[in-house]
Amino acid sequence: MGRVENVAVAGASRTLPWSWYTDPAVLGLEQERIFRRSWQYVGRADEVAEAGSFSATRVGHIPVVLVRDEEETLRAFVNVCRHRGSIICDGSGKRSTLQCPYHAWTYGLDGRLISAPRSNREGGLDSSELGLIPLRAETWGPFVFVNPDPDAGPLADFLEDVPERIAASGIDVGALRFLQRSESSLRANWKICSENFLECYHCPVAHPGFSAAVDVSPESYLLEAYGNRMSQTGPPRPEPRGSYDLRGEIERGQFHFLFPNTVINVMPGRPNFSIGPIVPLEPERTYRFLDYLVDPEADDAWVSEMLAFDAEVGAEDTRLVERVQEGVRSGLVGEGRLLPESERLVAHFQSLVVDALA
Ligand code: FES
Ligand SMILES: [Fe+2]
Repeated sequence: MGRVENVAVAGASRTLPWSWYTDPAVLGLEQERIFRRSWQYVGRADEVAEAGSFSATRVGHIPVVLVRDEEETLRAFVNVCRHRGSIICDGSGKRSTLQCPYHAWTYGLDGRLISAPRSNREGGLDSSELGLIPLRAETWGPFVFVNPDPDAGPLADFLEDVPERIAASGIDVGALRFLQRSESSLRANWKICSENFLECYHCPVAHPGFSAAVDVSPESYLLEAYGNRMSQTGPPRPEPRGSYDLRGEIERGQFHFLFPNTVINVMPGRPNFSIGPIVPLEPERTYRFLDYLVDPEADDAWVSEMLAFDAEVGAEDTRLVERVQEGVRSGLVGEGRLLPESERLVAHFQSLVVDALA
């Protein structure tokens, strides 16, 4: 680990050392110092709408279960049994208790340990201290965020001005209709996935469809970093070509990144919204999902064209990040370079990583 501590802070033009994209020790530090302490998007409140419903998710590498208890309070627990550590819940559903499938230790929806088979006969367990570990959970409209750090500041501070910007663009997040969750597994480090999101320098080259629709020139496509928030906004081209219909209330695309791993997208056109995390599973493997929501009035044809457009961009990005991973893991080149303007959000992201690990 000495190697991580000794690396100089990334300047405007040098990337992070490429060993940081493959080294398990670096991911271990990131889990501890970044993902254990940050607000992260985990799912929607309507996934646990009714009393007794639960939904398994994760925050970084920590398994989490969201629960709506009998009083209809939304709760989050570490989804790990206090007996010998099994995952308790999979998927989602409705239950009056949470029972571990290994030896049937059973917890209430408030996290209390209610019963452990044979424990009365054999003794030695203090059930009052063996409840599920609670986690901080807060919501922005229908969106649930969890932070494993009990001393973290409020979610509202973490979100910065993103809710206001989304509202000002004409979107009422509470009124949107949920469309679908798109999941993906990428053979790339989570930072490569994040950095790819944080610049559109690659757009004219690697996203011909997106660039025919959105004006990605440096004059029109704006980049902005503030604290843990990094934002990009871009208008449609005056005469967008070959894509879904970009006309509508939403005049500019908005693409926000909330450090360390929450992505929020709004495309030009009818009110639409997607949100999801970039979750490190292994140094070279990342899990992502995006929840898509849309104006309830938007017609199905428009919705499918917009989703197809976004899926094409996503598939192009998958190829890009996996090719970068293959390059940086080769070991003979130690680092890369960043353009001072077009890649300044990448530099900002990298400086936040360095600060967190320092
Ligand atoms: S590990 Fe859960 S009951 Fe044994
Ligand atoms: Fe991209």
